[in-house]
Amino acid sequence: MELLKPSTLFLVILSLTMNSMGSTHGPNKGGYWPSWSIDFSPSSIDTTLFTHVYYAFLSPNNITFKFEINDHTAFLLKNFTTSLYKKTPPVKTMFSIGGGSFSSKTFSRMALGHDSRKSFILSTIEVARKFEFDGVDLDWEFPQTPIDMANFGHLLHEWRVAVKKEAKLTSKPQLLLSAATYYKPEVTLDDIYRMYPVESINKNLDWINAMCYDYHGSWDLSATGTLAALYDPNSNVTTSYGLQSWIKAKIHREKLVMGLPLYGRTWQLKDPTLYGIGAPAIAVGPGNEGAMPYVEVQEFNAQNNAKVVFDEPTVSYYSVAGTSWIGYDDVRSVKLKIEYARSLEIGGYFFWAIDGDQEWKISRQASETWLD
Ligand SMILES: *[C@@H]1O[C@H](CO)[C@@H](O)[C@H](O)[C@H]1NC(C)=O
Ligand SMILES: *[C@@H]1O[C@H](CO)[C@@H](O)[C@H](O)[C@H]1NC(C)=O
Ligand SMILES: *[C@@H]1O[C@H](CO)[C@@H](O)[C@H](O)[C@H]1NC(C)=O
Repeated sequence: MELLKPSTLFLVILSLTMNSMGSTHGPNKGGYWPSWSIDFSPSSIDTTLFTHVYYAFLSPNNITFKFEINDHTAFLLKNFTTSLYKKTPPVKTMFSIGGGSFSSKTFSRMALGHDSRKSFILSTIEVARKFEFDGVDLDWEFPQTPIDMANFGHLLHEWRVAVKKEAKLTSKPQLLLSAATYYKPEVTLDDIYRMYPVESINKNLDWINAMCYDYHGSWDLSATGTLAALYDPNSNVTTSYGLQSWIKAKIHREKLVMGLPLYGRTWQLKDPTLYGIGAPAIAVGPGNEGAMPYVEVQEFNAQNNAKVVFDEPTVSYYSVAGTSWIGYDDVRSVKLKIEYARSLEIGGYFFWAIDGDQEWKISRQASETWLD
């Protein structure tokens, strides 16, 4: 028998150690790329900072539940995957379906019956293979009823069966399956209680992206509020509560991925001298309907000589200039949140949306805070 050279031996030991630690792959570091961000091409994404990048969004036809891809979209999809595979290191590419402005009812009708689920599933696989994506992300905001939640569970099961079968048939790696979800597993909106099918998620999805943001915003203009507080002494609408609730509901920790916002939410204060979190407000502030990408928040703060406050109890930032008020995350709050997520031993984090961070200030801090 040939003796192993010391260098080979070292590698063998290293790989055995890594396997025994169960950490052959590191944290999931995701970012959504909005396909409408015209001056931010996929090729400009710094892939050293991410493991997964999501194309946002594709929508199925609301009757057939299949994707009808026009030439322009086909170009964008192809450009997205080709650009990202050329990068060093390459990242996994996912296409994300639906999103905040897509009708929840369409998903509800799709998920209701076996045939409609099947049409949808087969079409997702076809699109993924045609445009060479590594996986598919379902962004259903949000299942509305307990029946929707049950059907969501059936959908995930049938989806996994289908991608397994397809991988076997084609000898290709199985497509990855993920879903963007509410920040916590139990949802009570419009007085209807429903709970995500955690068992089906554990069994059938590779991970979920818990949207740990939009806790306050233009839907309540009476007072300023945090967009994505880690803690709140007076409320459970927080990232810590959301993540802990998923864990309590028995999600496999490595499948839980924490959302982080690369944007702010804005209000117009009633009285510029009352400017804390929860201060009286009367309207949305600057930005697009009260939302502003992080890069513009920075510009706004500089141009208006804004007062910037790091709020320790909530682990969040806000800035004030006159009656303009913006709540957002910055380097320090993101670092603390990632340390928190890491201490929970969850799967990683993701950003909505990466075009908000053009100098990679926050993404870099995040990535450096969570090395393997
Ligand atoms: C489907 O979409 C079309 C075009 O947007 C719309 O006019 C129609 O009402 C939708 N149908 C259903 C059942 O949602
Ligand atoms: C993607 O599109 C951009 C802008 O249209 C172009 O400059 C670039 O070469 C394209 N990349 C690939 C890989 O097709
Ligand atoms: C937060 O949730 C816990 C447990 O679910 C509950 O006991 C507590 O009253 C809640 N706190 C607030 C402020 O709603």
